[in-house]
Amino acid sequence: MIRSVVQGCGAYLPDRVVTNEELAKKVDTSDEWIRQRTGIRQRYIAAEGEFTSHLAIKASERALEHAGLKAADVDLIVLATATPDETFPATATRVQASLGMTRGAAFDVQAVCAGFVYGVSVADSMLRTGLASTALVIGAETFSRILDWNDRGTCVLFGDGAGAIVLRAEEGKGTAEDRGILGNALHSDGRQHDILYVDGGPSSTRTTGFLRMEGKEVFKHAVVNMAAVVGEVLEKVGLTPADIDWLVPHQANKRIIDGTGRKLGLPPERVVVTVDQHANTSAASIPLALDTAVKDGRISRGDLLLLEGIGGGLAWGASLVRW
Ligand code: COA
Repeated sequence: MIRSVVQGCGAYLPDRVVTNEELAKKVDTSDEWIRQRTGIRQRYIAAEGEFTSHLAIKASERALEHAGLKAADVDLIVLATATPDETFPATATRVQASLGMTRGAAFDVQAVCAGFVYGVSVADSMLRTGLASTALVIGAETFSRILDWNDRGTCVLFGDGAGAIVLRAEEGKGTAEDRGILGNALHSDGRQHDILYVDGGPSSTRTTGFLRMEGKEVFKHAVVNMAAVVGEVLEKVGLTPADIDWLVPHQANKRIIDGTGRKLGLPPERVVVTVDQHANTSAASIPLALDTAVKDGRISRGDLLLLEGIGGGLAWGASLVRW
């Protein structure tokens, strides 16, 4: 049985840190309000001329180095982003060229904050069906470019960054103890479009637009849908919440993360939280959190990880990974 096994991970954040205090000088908000409602203390913002592809390339180089592989070994790039460099071509092809890859396929996946889980699921399916053998799955975003900096209800919540993992198809017995992606579950509900979207696009307004959100509504859906999809993916592979070593959730809001952890009965020290440092980096948030906990030694080989995320669409999903 073929399974997609994680070979390594990497991440990259822009140099510039913007604290809540700094933001409060430009926007009518306060460090206290932001921290209490979201857990966010700071975010990283890409420099002028620093694009999503630049962040993605750096994260990918680090992931390849961690995996002990070269770009020439890779034959698939799946880049999850809602903030591509250009309307087309896929930002993934820029990453492909920059890494020096001359074969295989590279494309973008657009599922906003659920993008990384969607990307993992797509790459996993392609590896298991033999369409590719070694994949880079990247989440990279420059959300600072689509924020309305006059809307205090949204601009304080997001940041820029990138993270990546390398997956390789390996033959194995296929038990829950074997390493690799054990299962995925994906969902979307287009009826919820209006609670989280960008009011622009090439086909509609011919502008890039800005992020619009009804925060309270998104919050309600997040809590309910996360609990359901986590239960679904666990049931698929015949495991229970007690088997999970690490919850690595999308980092939108500390209160949503805490709620999911509580529902699973996981103690807080088994939940990876980086929203305080990175804010919500959309598709980049899960691989950024993953990289943090792998590199600081919390996550080790053989651990069972639950990745989950929800975002605009609404789109949501979860993946179970034996690290
Ligand atoms: N600073 C200070 N006050 C702010 C503010 C800010 N940055 N943003 C909003 N407010 C004010 C509002 O104007 C409102 O004031 P009013 O009562 O005088 O009208 C008050 O705070 C409450 O606003 P509300 O939007 O009801 O707050 P909330 O408790 O729902 O918290 C969120 C707002 C966005 C933090 C919360 O709804 C949330 O986290 N939602 C989920 C969003 C999310 O995770 N999205 C991404 C999913 S991928």
